[in-house]
Amino acid sequence: MKKVKVGIIGNGSISHTHMAGYKKLDCVEVVANCDINEERAKQFAQYYNISHTYTDYNEMLKQEDLDAVSVCTWNNVHAPATIAALKAGKNVLCEKPLALNAIQAQQMVDTAKDAGKLLMVGFVRRFGLNTQILKRMIDNGDMGQIYYAKTGCLRRVGNPGGWFSDKKRSGGGPLIDLGVHMIDLVRYLMDKPKAVLAMGSTYDLVGPRSNIMGIQQYKSADYSDYNDVEDLAAGFVRFDNGATLIVENSWTQHIKRDKLYLELYGSKAGVTMEPDFEIYSERNDVLTDTKPFIDVNQNDFQPIFDKEIAHFVDCVANGTPCLNPGEDGVELMKILDAIYESASTGHEVIIK
Ligand SMILES: NC(=O)c1ccc[n+]([C@@H]2O[C@H](COP(=O)([O-])OP(=O)(O)OC[C@H]3O[C@@H](n4cnc5c(N)ncnc54)[C@H](O)[C@@H]3O)[C@@H](O)[C@H]2O)c1
Repeated sequence: MKKVKVGIIGNGSISHTHMAGYKKLDCVEVVANCDINEERAKQFAQYYNISHTYTDYNEMLKQEDLDAVSVCTWNNVHAPATIAALKAGKNVLCEKPLALNAIQAQQMVDTAKDAGKLLMVGFVRRFGLNTQILKRMIDNGDMGQIYYAKTGCLRRVGNPGGWFSDKKRSGGGPLIDLGVHMIDLVRYLMDKPKAVLAMGSTYDLVGPRSNIMGIQQYKSADYSDYNDVEDLAAGFVRFDNGATLIVENSWTQHIKRDKLYLELYGSKAGVTMEPDFEIYSERNDVLTDTKPFIDVNQNDFQPIFDKEIAHFVDCVANGTPCLNPGEDGVELMKILDAIYESASTGHEVIIK
């Protein structure tokens, strides 16, 4: 069978999880890689034994006969690199968020359509086992009508710095970085209702806190403590099926410990998927709590990336319908844009 030839654009942290996913697939050969940081690109190539290395993705796209590309760069490069790759006839898996805003994201989807190529967005958490199990329960009608969701990802000290906290390159702070995953999970689990209205507030009163000692924190590859993004974003979203979402995300906040939660409330049952997976309902006139028994670590980082990469390759090689089409990335960007716009204007925003 002909191998699927892959190139990886952006060779920082997350590209290693993509690479590990590709390496597990016999039908894939990663033939080229590219990073503007030449040293990093060379090290990546040497470590994984990749024969062709570039510092300019346009050059890579021109020279290499690739079937597919992973875009793992700073957020501001997602749109230009993806559009260039699609125009060069490659299928693309683009990391989240799809772009800096919905306008760019729509251009990416339009280009994919014109080129007849796949654009998949890296909403990796859809591949988590707890997500898949809950999705199946919801699709079977176990929760009835879901009308309310609450989700958040909050850190006490966790601003990754570097490009993440430089708005020109990231598009924003914890909302676009962490909120994008949490809001997507809610939308995906609720069968992708369309957001029609959002309100939001953002705050930047605490700062990057690079002074804090004695804790391990994730720092971006090219760390600096430059920071012009929010510390915390709180949002309210209403969907066209009448459901409401309350969402909060922070990189730094004076809380006891980091928090990750996702709660859905339906007419027949409520559920917390994070931090614990539990279902709250009533049976035979008795309040009943159910805890799904899952005997594997369901949220390990690498295994869910492996599933995402395997699915992308399956879509490219076999035309399997894509679980995470680019269109979902556009809808998400519309929600993020609206929360940021509401935060800056002080008004609610109607989403079209
Ligand atoms: N799905 C997830 O859970 C998850 C987790 C972490 C990061 N991400 C996403 O992955 C992307 C990368 O994040 P990271 O943590 O790996 O960042 P990083 O800073 O570690 O790596 C980004 C790399 O992109 C390179 N780059 C920038 N512009 C480029 C260009 N024009 N051409 C080629 N390379 C370029 C940088 O030099 C750097 O090496 C971001 O969009 C981030 O949101 C997703």
